[in-house]
Amino acid sequence: MKILLVGGGGREHALAWKIRQSKRVEKLYCAPGNAGISELAECADIGVMEFDRLVEFAKEKQIDMTIIAPDDPLAAGAVDAFEAAGLKAFGPKKNAAILEGSKAFSKDLMKKYGIPTAAYETFDTPESALSYLENAKFPIVLKADGLALGKGVLICNTKEEAKDGVKTLMLDKQFGSAGNRIVIEEYMTGREVSVLSFVDGKSIKIMTSAQDHKRAKDGDKGLNTGGMGTFSPSPFYTDEIDSFCRENIYQKTVDAMKSEGREFKGVIFFGLMLTKDGPKVLEYNARFGDPEAQVVLPRMKNDIVDIFEACIDGTLDNIELEFEDNAAVCVVLASDGYPEHYEKGYEIKGLDNFKDKEGYYVFHAGSSKKDGTVVTNGGRVLGITAKGENLVKARENAYEAVKWINFDNKYMRNDIGKAIDEV
Ligand code: AMP
Ligand code: GLY
Repeated sequence: MKILLVGGGGREHALAWKIRQSKRVEKLYCAPGNAGISELAECADIGVMEFDRLVEFAKEKQIDMTIIAPDDPLAAGAVDAFEAAGLKAFGPKKNAAILEGSKAFSKDLMKKYGIPTAAYETFDTPESALSYLENAKFPIVLKADGLALGKGVLICNTKEEAKDGVKTLMLDKQFGSAGNRIVIEEYMTGREVSVLSFVDGKSIKIMTSAQDHKRAKDGDKGLNTGGMGTFSPSPFYTDEIDSFCRENIYQKTVDAMKSEGREFKGVIFFGLMLTKDGPKVLEYNARFGDPEAQVVLPRMKNDIVDIFEACIDGTLDNIELEFEDNAAVCVVLASDGYPEHYEKGYEIKGLDNFKDKEGYYVFHAGSSKKDGTVVTNGGRVLGITAKGENLVKARENAYEAVKWINFDNKYMRNDIGKAIDEV
């Protein structure tokens, strides 16, 4: 088969690696890809939002299946564009990708179908939001309705902070039109877990659990980022919690989308918070997580192409997902200053150290090739993943492997997976 993968970050590098494990794949293309992905796939310089060019490329190269990995093209209808051209594509159509694309939609869906989530209200004007805050309880959470690179969520400790937040989102439009409407939601406390799943419109298969570290600095300090590191599985995601979620969250979400005439095919990523009143949904994503994919996919035993196909064909019921009985930890190597100001273009040294090292992976997130060398080209530069027989061992291995790489302004968190010591 010939496969086209759309995207160019660490998640896509992990996907490219996993797709290349499949015996069914004769050729892999990636648009736009990055320096790491170009070792595994032929990269085409086409942006993820250039649907006409992507479809044209897929026709020209006689692609059998296209995988749309990032949220923006999914929410804008990339899968619809491929299907309209008679081409197979993996991912939710536009009317289903709204599960991630609009927080107001997903909150209303959960309320209507009785799926546990934080209490909330939706606001279309700054005046109504500000007036609601007068009698609200703090801390409180403000969320831009639309996609905002995972950064449109403000946790406000006081009324003043919350009022400033409404201004940032709705008047200053820091996240553009994503802030035309906002959700104001009850603040919850508890441990967060990421659970990824495959969905074929009616059935759902749950992957192994993971936990992300979203803040930039050690001890969960600093600004929110796309994710500074992950571990899998989460020891806090117990069998009991799993049963609860299977009964009250996962299948219910798939059925709810079907009932709404928005059949979901692709990956649903459940961002859960384990509160003292039980697990609740923080958010849905309509795609693999980044850097969750970097710890989940290396542990997956299945041929991922079989699963993509089953999701598209509606035959997921016939597939049993299998994961290795071990653990993985991913430490993100970023450019110092991320997620605000940082420099790019520094040579990355030591990539060869990962060649032929079983259980160690270097997934490129922001890199490019320049004059025969690989240079930094983003805030998150690399994801270093290592497996181990358990989480403690995997973490040791990952923090050993980060030493093999050097570049100017290299920055990482030193406490990825520290939470497992509390188990
Ligand atoms: P989201 O993009 O909705 O996942 O939000 C980003 C992050 O904000 C989450 O991973 C949580 O850490 C935090 N967050 C979101 N909603 C809430 C909430 N209702 N209570 C507490 N923290 C939240
Ligand atoms: N790591 C969180 C996300 O992909 O949204």
